[in-house]
Amino acid sequence: MLNKIGVIGGGNIGGVLAQLLVTRGYAKNVALVDVKGPDLAAGKMLDIAEATPVIRSDVQTAGSKEYDVLEGAELVINTAGVPRAARPDGTLPTREELLEVNLKITDAVSAGIKANCPDAIVISIANPLDAIVYRLHMNLGKTRAKLMGMAGVLDSARYRYFIAQEAGVSVENIDAMVLGGHGDSMIPIRSACRIAGMPVEKFISPEKLDAIEARTRSAGGEVVKLLGSGSAFVSPAQSALEMAEAIIYDKKKIIPVSAYLEGEYGVNGLYIGVPAVLGKNGVEKIIEMDLTDAEKEAFKNSAAAVQKTTDEVLAMGK
Ligand code: LAC
Repeated sequence: MLNKIGVIGGGNIGGVLAQLLVTRGYAKNVALVDVKGPDLAAGKMLDIAEATPVIRSDVQTAGSKEYDVLEGAELVINTAGVPRAARPDGTLPTREELLEVNLKITDAVSAGIKANCPDAIVISIANPLDAIVYRLHMNLGKTRAKLMGMAGVLDSARYRYFIAQEAGVSVENIDAMVLGGHGDSMIPIRSACRIAGMPVEKFISPEKLDAIEARTRSAGGEVVKLLGSGSAFVSPAQSALEMAEAIIYDKKKIIPVSAYLEGEYGVNGLYIGVPAVLGKNGVEKIIEMDLTDAEKEAFKNSAAAVQKTTDEVLAMGK
């Protein structure tokens, strides 16, 4: 159990996260910051606090428009950013099109972390995912162990869910990973997908797998379109908690995360999704998977797509 966890951004993901953190008791204190008025974060946390007698939780809560509510947090989860929304004509902006507005928000987030909890391990969820983590990296200058993005857990959960549905077996039997950027170029790694330890192809035809993998790549957009406003929030919040849990309880769990690569997978100086060992120090190790030639090629293309957005981040300065 930690002493304090901070959540930045009190929208749908931040709200669910705060609620789950209090329910699960991962820290003695949970704090939420959101700049929205009159005082959205205080309201959300008061609501959650008033449920604590009923759920039998003595976790202390705090919510504020001011970043100093995060003071001393050991772990921070950043959700601050504008989510994707369908345009009036029904088309969707890409996650990358959120870049300009979300970069400004990320700069304010960085200042808040620096001033109040400079040593915290940071998990970021805002989009465009890999580029926003890169901006936090520029602003915060953390070691790669202490800063990571949440995307791979969510994309892999979607892949696993679709596979379980198609195979007609429990989701608990599906072991799978999605790597690369959190965008249209993400790569479901079929060669490492197992159903109860057996290759996925034993249960599902290649054609069906192609369709499932295509659906996985656009799964975030599928939810955005159905909701009408905002993006998925339960699955992203739960996914970030899997990472938080591995760190808080020093589980040394292998989880796909957006991590800073220094030569692994042939990539240097970029945040992108790869399997990593998560423990009390954060990202403790990057695991290099044996990929097929086609998967290697797809990873290269995904890295190029992430590089393009990251170059825009660099061009937009600091
Ligand atoms: C999604 C958003 C959170 O994939 O990126 O649903």
